[in-house]
Amino acid sequence: MESKISIFITCLVFAAAFQLLLPVSEASLKVGYYKSKCKKAESIVKSTVRNFIVKNPGLVAGVIRMFFHDCFVRCEMDICKVVVNVDLRKSRLDGRVSNGSEALQLLPPPSFNLTQLEASFARNGLSTAEMVTLSGAHSIGRSHCSSFTSRLYPTIDPTMNQGFGSSLRKLCPQNAAVDGVVPQDFVSPNKLDEQYYKNVESLTALFFSDWSLLTSSETQKQVDTYTKVPGAFKVDFANAMIKMGSISDALAGSSGEVRGPTCRAVN
Ligand code: HEM
Repeated sequence: MESKISIFITCLVFAAAFQLLLPVSEASLKVGYYKSKCKKAESIVKSTVRNFIVKNPGLVAGVIRMFFHDCFVRCEMDICKVVVNVDLRKSRLDGRVSNGSEALQLLPPPSFNLTQLEASFARNGLSTAEMVTLSGAHSIGRSHCSSFTSRLYPTIDPTMNQGFGSSLRKLCPQNAAVDGVVPQDFVSPNKLDEQYYKNVESLTALFFSDWSLLTSSETQKQVDTYTKVPGAFKVDFANAMIKMGSISDALAGSSGEVRGPTCRAVN
């Protein structure tokens, strides 16, 4: 696998070097970007990621969440089809700035109400409908107790199903020494599907922000449609992921770099 990664990195370096010679407009994001520059790049990444996912299916949720965070913060991540079944435009470079506090300012916390969520997504060019669709990612993956314990103590939030709240209290005791972890969706924890919207309707989704989708007739209707029309969520989700992946083309030009082997630090 290491040799595959090194071929990929070599390819990326060539591709990026080539790309840096282009005017920004020509270097913008494209579906199939690597095909002309490094034919095997995407298939190498795909099979490498697939191997990791087979060993640890929980990675899918982590990658989808990272993509969301990345799109809202500095837009540097290309995501491959093995994780989400859509062809996203690729060719972003790594940024030259990495600033942890930016994430806190730019990402919506789970305590946000509908107006705050709408504003956060609108800042990134995403509509309320797209926000409702993308929230469906909370049908997979997990959450730390600390992200929702304010809804459990001292009393169970009236916007949460009280029986569900009592069960969560057992999994997330108050003042526990270790921050526990629970599935986002207790019904089908590993399936990216419309179950999330059923959970929202039955007040068994974890976050206040999830519940907030019931607080306008427009968003409530969309939630309800996803629970009733088979397949509607998946089509919208794929389109919304593509849109989210297009938030910024900034780093497709000359403002980025290709990181060296210690890729979590700027070169
Ligand atoms: C609407 C605003 C959103 C809020 C307030 C929010 C908040 C959160 C929080 C608090 C967690 C749990 C973190 C933890 O305690 O470990 C989480 C997990 C997750 N979120 Fe969101 N999120 C939002 C939107 C999104 C979007 C748009 C996506 C992707 C399209 C997404 C994908 C995920 C995934 C997949 C997980 C599980 C991660 C894992 O298991 O590793 N979220 N989110």
